[in-house]
Amino acid sequence: MSHTIHHQAANEFDIRQMEIGDLAAVFYLGERLFTADKWPALYRTWDEYEVVTFFASDTETCFVATRNEKVIGFALGNVIEKENSTWRYGYCVWLGVDPEVAQTGVGSALFTAMKERFIDLGARMILVDTDANNEPAIRFFKKHGFDHENKHVYLSMNLTHDQEYRQRHKK
Ligand SMILES: CC(C)(COP(=O)(O)OP(=O)(O)OC[C@H]1O[C@@H](n2cnc3c(N)ncnc32)[C@H](O)[C@@H]1OP(=O)(O)O)[C@@H](O)C(=O)NCCC(=O)NCCS
Repeated sequence: MSHTIHHQAANEFDIRQMEIGDLAAVFYLGERLFTADKWPALYRTWDEYEVVTFFASDTETCFVATRNEKVIGFALGNVIEKENSTWRYGYCVWLGVDPEVAQTGVGSALFTAMKERFIDLGARMILVDTDANNEPAIRFFKKHGFDHENKHVYLSMNLTHDQEYRQRHKK
């Protein structure tokens, strides 16, 4: 087999809806990508519960990329319907690709699969959010047509310093 053919085969991947057998692989890949406080999505944390919940409640909008049956990327999202609004939004919450295969089109293929599913489900807009310093993701989303950057300020407060908290947790 020539080198070129081998490379072409090595670069192939499949995109399919996430299945129950993918849960562990998706979780561990995400742990490598979303470690500590590196680029957490707004108000969400990556843990087993997050992955299981997405799979259980939004199976239709969760996808994986596989190569030789190994998970090399995932996209987890859901459709949001606001009360008193006829609009439906597709929310792309977690998108991750194994760094070993970064920038080879896996993220784009996952995103496209999710976008098409959102359209099938009647969404008229897609939302994504990411840390302001996450250059690769911002470039990625701009390349895919996101041009409307809404600036949100995200504040947090450590409640363990609060008087009320201390009162209640006094031993
Ligand atoms: C963002 C991410 C999903 C992109 O996946 P990918 O498979 O590398 O993306 P693709 O190969 O389909 O697309 C490549 C495009 O993404 C952007 N991009 C990806 N990696 C980049 C990097 N290291 N630096 C700059 N731009 C990058 C670029 O726009 C690039 O196209 P261009 O070089 O023509 O401008 C991937 O980098 C990732 O998993 N990041 C960590 C998790 C994360 O931050 N997810 C998003 C928020 S949930």
